[in-house]
Amino acid sequence: MCGIIGYVGTRSPRSLILDGLGRLEYRGYDSAGLALLVGDDNGGRRFATTRTVGNLERLLEAAGADDGAHAALGLGHTRWATHGRVTQENAHPHASADERVVVVMNGIIENYQRLRSELQGQGVVFRSETDAEVLPHLIARHYQGDLAEAVREVLPLLGGHFAFVVAHADEPERLVAARRECPLVVGVGEGEHFVASAIPAFLRETREVMTLEDDEVVSVTSHGMQIFDAHGGRSERAPHTVEWDADSAEKSGYPTFMLKEIHEQPSALWDTLGDRLRPDGSIELDGLGLDEAALARVERIHIVACGTSYHAGLVGRYLIEDWARVPVNVEVASEYRYRTCLAGPGDLVLGVTQSGETADTLAAMRVARERGAHVVALTNVMGSQATRDADGVLYTRAGLEIGVAATKTHTAQVMALALLALTLGRLKWAITEAGALDLADELRRLPEVLETYLASSAPDDVGAVARRYHDRPFFLYLGRHVGVPVCFEGALKLKEISYIPTEAYPAGEMKHGPIALLEEGSPVVVVATDGHVFDKVISNIQEVRARGARVIAVATEGNQEIAGHADEVLWAPRVPALLSPLTAVVPLQLFAYEVAQALGLNVDQPRNLAKTVTVE
Ligand code: M6R
Repeated sequence: MCGIIGYVGTRSPRSLILDGLGRLEYRGYDSAGLALLVGDDNGGRRFATTRTVGNLERLLEAAGADDGAHAALGLGHTRWATHGRVTQENAHPHASADERVVVVMNGIIENYQRLRSELQGQGVVFRSETDAEVLPHLIARHYQGDLAEAVREVLPLLGGHFAFVVAHADEPERLVAARRECPLVVGVGEGEHFVASAIPAFLRETREVMTLEDDEVVSVTSHGMQIFDAHGGRSERAPHTVEWDADSAEKSGYPTFMLKEIHEQPSALWDTLGDRLRPDGSIELDGLGLDEAALARVERIHIVACGTSYHAGLVGRYLIEDWARVPVNVEVASEYRYRTCLAGPGDLVLGVTQSGETADTLAAMRVARERGAHVVALTNVMGSQATRDADGVLYTRAGLEIGVAATKTHTAQVMALALLALTLGRLKWAITEAGALDLADELRRLPEVLETYLASSAPDDVGAVARRYHDRPFFLYLGRHVGVPVCFEGALKLKEISYIPTEAYPAGEMKHGPIALLEEGSPVVVVATDGHVFDKVISNIQEVRARGARVIAVATEGNQEIAGHADEVLWAPRVPALLSPLTAVVPLQLFAYEVAQALGLNVDQPRNLAKTVTVE
């Protein structure tokens, strides 16, 4: 978590760094800081540092207008606290005792307590509670005129996973950075370089990007870049051009990123289908690292993921088991990684992670890979850690997602899983060719179906319902079959951006406990889309209404029956039952969004959360 950025070049770093931090704020926003290398009164250089508690607006206020001093380079940080409370002292950048070395870091230095004690034993006085502060002190102690060399010496002393950027006041045209299992990319511009946690930080300035391997050290100046391996040997690597549109990091007229991203779902689905679904209905999934014969031999699939990606995996299970008849185990990655792993050769393990950086998902993928399973990363981010740790990759093409609450990446993940399920179904002869062609047509139709829905009055109707219920203290979500993961996702969306407690249950489980929560007027959101369990769901609706609950049903457009059973209806476009998670989740995303809006909350930056969870 945390966003870091450094700039060295011929332009003034101040605004470039503040701008970049704005685009990294989704990674953490409890405090922020900026250090600029400026001239001092004696003709030398010093760091001018500003650190504030709160989101970036506070830093912008505190940093004030440019003081006129030409800064040679700069570093910035936006924090999601792990070690040390949210205070100004704990905000980055951190400096060495003589303030000549300044560091911004993302990640965790796991052995920092021992390093801190050793440094304290040598007389170093710490000014923060963070793990990161050991870095400037260690680097200052190893510094003998070559910052890259000092960093290379310090790296083996560090445990954990991290990425950091460092500058030394005696080397006014140089930034040095290193990473281990945390993201760090270099942006290569004309006479300038950026080093940042993620590409959006500098996407407006350059699309030429260079990635770093674990334990490499990169040194950048205005005009040059050198990469060193752990032994000091030089590595040569050319930057690649990213295709993301710089506008994707803007709100483009929407009030929030979340709403913009909800509305981008048709194009996310369309792009994820892309050229993979051919006009004749055949599907080409390259990059999996398995040829058709090997795919046809897959006997078990394990899906590991966290949060919203886990919910996509749950939907994927229904599709794969129904269309391909392959058993699927879906598990939360933070549990999977510590269980006795029984995956092995012949098994396919899918790590579903939009960011490709979620620590638990990466760990679960590693465990399975060590056991000999074939591991595929299902991710939205090219070059992310998951793509490097896997045997193959299946990309969603949802474009950059900035809102902390995942929306378009979720539906894109489900679409990618649908393509995989259909491919497996064909290869295993578990589905007829006519059936497969029908499904392929339905998948192709989906982006337009959602586009029509989002352009209709339905989203406004969802808003009206949300405003009638936004003050309720608790929501129960119920569904059956594919409606279950939709409930899980809808409930997660509501709780994470509105802070209203929610429970999501398979409707059949309700009688085994959750029904006790209901009282007169309790709102119960029921996913009651058309399908073979519709009547069962209606029975569950009767049961909750008999206890005085008010039912907000998500129902299929055109369903005549639901009105007689529900107090409110959120309509979802009509698609085949197994594909309904792709449409039924959208009114629930909108419902959560509208409730949070009615409560006046910041949906793009919900409290305590960060977009990318790179810590365990
Ligand atoms: O990047 P990932 O897909 O691995 O992220 C996993 C979760 O942290 C993420 O889905 C989280 O639950 C969402 N932000 C919730 O909206």
